[in-house]
Amino acid sequence: MKTSSAQLDIIDCTPAIGSEIRTDVDTLLSGREAETIRATLERRGVIFFRGLQISDEQQVTIAQTLGTIVANEGEGGIYKISLDSSVNQRAAYLKGSLFWHFDGSLQPYPNLAALLRAVKLSETGGQTEFCNTYAAYDDLPAADKEALADLRVVHSAERSQYYVNPEMSYEEVTFWQKSPTKSCPLVWTHKSGRKSLLVGATADYVIGLAVEESRALLARLRDWATQPQYVYRHEWQVGDLLIWSNTGTMHRALPYPADSGRLMHRTILAGEEPLQ
Ligand SMILES: [Fe+2]
Repeated sequence: MKTSSAQLDIIDCTPAIGSEIRTDVDTLLSGREAETIRATLERRGVIFFRGLQISDEQQVTIAQTLGTIVANEGEGGIYKISLDSSVNQRAAYLKGSLFWHFDGSLQPYPNLAALLRAVKLSETGGQTEFCNTYAAYDDLPAADKEALADLRVVHSAERSQYYVNPEMSYEEVTFWQKSPTKSCPLVWTHKSGRKSLLVGATADYVIGLAVEESRALLARLRDWATQPQYVYRHEWQVGDLLIWSNTGTMHRALPYPADSGRLMHRTILAGEEPLQ
């Protein structure tokens, strides 16, 4: 589908998720179309501007037209994502981004959205995949919707670390257990009234279910939400600016060599809706 506003061409990439927006840098910097861009982001989960080739300052300016920047991440609103520990000291932690998750599951207000700009790419791998957790919820059988309605899931940093380091030492386990856990609904009812599924790598266990039942349910719902019809895979080109809705999608990066030089500049928009 293709829709147009005064200064935007919006081209949907798949039925359920992902739209390319064609426009010029001045329009984005001015904020004139910010309302339409935000609405498109909410509706489509992921939007991107191909080969926009903007500076860090311009990225921050565009982000400010769309929401409130989380300034304590990175420098000047720009956080560098790289698996090279000389570029990012938390490179080892970032390996967790290779598994389906949403950001800020442990925060009271998960990020609204993130802007990601491709500065340097790996020759192999490094695509980013997103799945639409609104569409995944909407398509669940009615019996599932009823069964899941009141379930709550405990999210933990420790759980997500098992994906990166399956055989953690006692010291590692107890280190990660110091991070507070958080109980979240399995189905997030948003201010808009829309509902999305909340699973992903930090989802540790479903309160009140037997261990096996809980693990099976979380795996089944992740598999459901990440079926091809809900997924958009972004094949990056240098200069692309992509924005994902963090409250209505999960994401993951596909593996790439740590020494590839892949570098992404990220700007985060603060959450506007509590998750409780
Ligand atoms: Fe992430």
